[in-house]
Amino acid sequence: MAPDYQSLGLALSQQQTGLVLEVVDSLDSTNSELMRRARAGIGQPTLLVAQHQTAGRGRLGRQWLSQEHQTGNDGSRAAGESLTFSLVLPLTVADWSGLSLAVGLSLASSLHPDLRLKWPNDIWLEQRKLAGILIETVAIGSARLAIVGVGINLGPRGASGLARAPAWLQEVVPQIDAPTTLLRLVPGLLRTLQEFESLGFAPFRAGFAQRDALFGASVSLSDGTLGSAEGVDARGALLLRTAQGLRAISSDEVSLRAPSTGAKAA
Ligand code: BTN
Repeated sequence: MAPDYQSLGLALSQQQTGLVLEVVDSLDSTNSELMRRARAGIGQPTLLVAQHQTAGRGRLGRQWLSQEHQTGNDGSRAAGESLTFSLVLPLTVADWSGLSLAVGLSLASSLHPDLRLKWPNDIWLEQRKLAGILIETVAIGSARLAIVGVGINLGPRGASGLARAPAWLQEVVPQIDAPTTLLRLVPGLLRTLQEFESLGFAPFRAGFAQRDALFGASVSLSDGTLGSAEGVDARGALLLRTAQGLRAISSDEVSLRAPSTGAKAA
């Protein structure tokens, strides 16, 4: 293992997480690799880190081009250093709704007080995307494996043609590198997954509210509905005040109405 990951491996074993740490140079996608293993019956709890992904995936079928490149919604690319990893472990959960919000809250809390959460799966710094979360599950016998994939921009990007420039972690935590970032976030992430397994999203709702980047913002849904974001409910659904009243949105894609959102400053 690369020397800079050795202390992470040691910490994971000292904390008796039961996680295998695997760091690879290149993969198509850490989520895809863990999905393939799960479907082949290999469900060993694992933290899989790729220094480079050739076919990284984002939510809603989008691409996540990382390490050297990442695409924006407009298809443009920008250069920059990033951390890409996936964690797989069995979870017995009655209601999966809100898991990506709980994970986002855990990561943001472990990394920096200024980080905000953009429902349902992004971490923002000053209204710019810093990280994304992709959670997938696989049934394996009577159990279910959760694959929690995370991509975090660590370093500055070169000249960016992105419509909205991305943020990066070193803006607020100077010089932090990938192993140190993992060292900071993995223990909290494991605690969050354990708590979610027992209690679902409800105990995370107040913490989410404190970092909610959309609260008070005018947002539009992919179905054309317009409204004002009023936080999330106890299952993590977005509460949207529309002309027809308050709606709880569980799965639509929500995008901020640019440029004047009325969102609270981060
Ligand atoms: C999103 O913003 O839509 C989610 C992005 C998630 C990207 C991470 S990078 C590690 C893991 N492997 C993938 O292919 N995707 C996730």
